Amino acid sequence: MPATPATSATPAPKTFRVKSFGCQMNVYDGERMAELLGAEGMTAAADGQEADLVVLNTCHIREKATEKVYSDIGRLRRNDGTAPLIAVAGCVAQAEGEEIMARAPSVKVVVGPQAYHRLPAMVADAVAGKRGTETDMPAEAKFAALPKRRKSAPTAFLTVQEGCDKFCTYCVVPYTRGAEISRPFADLVEEAKLLVAGGAREITLLGQNVNAWVGSDAKGCNIGLDGLIRTLAADPDLQRIRYTTSHPNDMTDGLIAAHGEVDKLMPFLHLPVQAGNDRVLKAMNRSHTADSYLKLLDRIRTANPDIALSGDFIVGFPGETDAEFEDTLRLVDAVGYAQAFSFKYSPRPGTPAATMADHVPAPVMDERLQRLQAALNRDQLAFNKASVGKTCQVLVERRGKLAGQLLGKSPWLQSVHFMGDAEIGQIVTVELVDAGPNSIAGHII
Ligand code: SAH
Ligand code: SF4
Ligand code: F3S
Repeated sequence: MPATPATSATPAPKTFRVKSFGCQMNVYDGERMAELLGAEGMTAAADGQEADLVVLNTCHIREKATEKVYSDIGRLRRNDGTAPLIAVAGCVAQAEGEEIMARAPSVKVVVGPQAYHRLPAMVADAVAGKRGTETDMPAEAKFAALPKRRKSAPTAFLTVQEGCDKFCTYCVVPYTRGAEISRPFADLVEEAKLLVAGGAREITLLGQNVNAWVGSDAKGCNIGLDGLIRTLAADPDLQRIRYTTSHPNDMTDGLIAAHGEVDKLMPFLHLPVQAGNDRVLKAMNRSHTADSYLKLLDRIRTANPDIALSGDFIVGFPGETDAEFEDTLRLVDAVGYAQAFSFKYSPRPGTPAATMADHVPAPVMDERLQRLQAALNRDQLAFNKASVGKTCQVLVERRGKLAGQLLGKSPWLQSVHFMGDAEIGQIVTVELVDAGPNSIAGHII
């Protein structure tokens, strides 16, 4: 019997746009979703062109991020009341999938971070008039179902570990990303090889707790992240390795030693501390103290005195007093961060901290954040100024706005701009000549 063509509720999308918010892992996931859709014959919409399918790859870490999703959905509505096919992916999809489906009829697909390999099939269902939500958790199935990597920018992300078992009391990640899993060693070596063959010169290994990665190497020996880094460093075409984000408790002796021994491992470490007061750290369930964190930094600096440090901070955790906040400022003074991120505490639904007593009033949080950021900006500028006069390797990532200008990163993850003649993806020697708070001017040598 001849098949009856189904009447489509929506025309099949030919073009797509993936908009990623939040952390680098979402950037990685967004790239993989684009590759999946590309494998189905769709093409990425050009800048300024409306896409037939829009994937909002969302973040749930703080309040405003969720509100942004709803306003983005609203903004996609056209003047005639229609909208492109909208898929909501990422951590808001995981946490609030049902609510989004109920609240936003223009959303046809809701897909969580561990289920996005199902995106093409779900888009096909939506075209046939069927809205769908997929928020299953096992991450292994996802990676096996993704297409092989092909092209890469000079700097690439590679997710090696996902999920979190730490359950810091303020944080949604253990609920949105699920339990800690490590991707198998052989899969990572293969993906890294393909990225390098596709043009990557620097790979940043990603994980919510990247330094909790464990695996067994080609000989069947158990290894940690340092073992993986040493293996990847043996590829002559891979020039630089970074990793993020690390938890202080998972900084093993081997990983610390690698910072002194593996030349390709860049001298930069993002190691969030969150606060400088031990009572607050305990209430956050951070399982390190200010002192144990500082001692850990001493060991890391002993292994590599050249290392630049970065961190994350939360001000105004429930019950944080003025005196306790002062401890955070003291810790910042003691460390001298090269850069850092700082946030006002944001209560997240379902987390233990959200129902704790003594929430800090908004104006107090504002003032604390301003003081903290002033201290962090001061240190960042000082770090950048101290780089002036140094000569370093810069990986050329792209052209700047000015004719002949090139942009790249120093080993210490500073943005460097300089005039010169070099290819994108080339490593050049640059003398750093002038520093601002957010970038450094250099001369190519
Ligand atoms: N896995 C990483 C990063 C998690 S999210 C880690 O453990 O460090 C990135 C940062 O967002 C956190 O380090 C924390 O500083 C911040 N953050 C997480 N939950 C938050 C909340 N409820 N309110 C404010 N900031 C938060
Ligand atoms: Fe969140 Fe803490 Fe896990 Fe980081 S370690 S993802 S802050 S629960
Ligand atoms: Fe946001 Fe999810 Fe990353 S909540 S920070 S996108 S893990």
